Amino acid sequence: MKKWGMLFIAVMMVTLVLAACGQEKNNSGNAANNAGQAANQNETQAGGEQTEPAKKLVVGMSADFPPYEFHIKNDSGQDEIVGFDVEIAKEIAKDLGAELEIKDLKFDTLLNELSSGRVDLVISGLSPTPERAEQIDMSKIYYKAEQAVVTREADKDKFNTMEALEGAKIGVQQGSIQEDMAKEIPNAQLTSLGKINDIIMQLNTNRVDAAILEGPVAESFVKNVKGLVITDATPVTEDDGYVIGIKKGNQELLDQVNTTLDRLISAGSIDQFVAEASALAEK
Ligand code: ARG
Repeated sequence: MKKWGMLFIAVMMVTLVLAACGQEKNNSGNAANNAGQAANQNETQAGGEQTEPAKKLVVGMSADFPPYEFHIKNDSGQDEIVGFDVEIAKEIAKDLGAELEIKDLKFDTLLNELSSGRVDLVISGLSPTPERAEQIDMSKIYYKAEQAVVTREADKDKFNTMEALEGAKIGVQQGSIQEDMAKEIPNAQLTSLGKINDIIMQLNTNRVDAAILEGPVAESFVKNVKGLVITDATPVTEDDGYVIGIKKGNQELLDQVNTTLDRLISAGSIDQFVAEASALAEK
């Protein structure tokens, strides 16, 4: 009797855990699931009485990156994430008929969030490196920009070539291609930080000598932060351009993303989004 009692409790517990898992799956209901994947169809059939959850597209980005993605106080005084990556995200969501949810995360966590399905897309000025291509799928390139070196006004001429950065203290974003680039500079002392604002702070307080950033981001920061300048040094990378990250194997979503990008690129919308976002970042 005692034995049967225990077994009963064990069975009940397993049932409860399974029910909880099912619940979680149904609640997540994001666009990646709704993109007609077999898994989702089975789920819908199994839980027949439930109404189809509203489609949601969860986009991960590190919103420290003007004019790509950054925080502003909007007209109603509220914090809002804006930028040309955000405009692209809105267009993709619109084409999918999904509601857009943006998650502001540290850049170096984004690819794992994608692989584990906690975000559907990464739109974050992501450069298409061969290493990343092993972990995630990538859209076509939607924009290109150069790299830049930012330093304090007084040091502008001191760091006017990449060679001049040898042995210097360099600030970079954790997990970025700039971090890899800085590692190539002989004897450079790296400070790798999660958010770019912190790198700018380190520059301002003399804790690093220079930072390597994407050109448009560098321009945006030097316009807004007094005492910082872009030097003549020209960092080069083979991983030119930006792509949208998609979970490996989600071909349907990848195709949909590329279709939206084609539409935006051929209409000249991306250049327009960049111009608008740059103006917004200057305010
Ligand atoms: N393009 C660089 C990379 O992919 C940096 C991107 C950083 N993006 C950001 N939103 N902070 O590594």
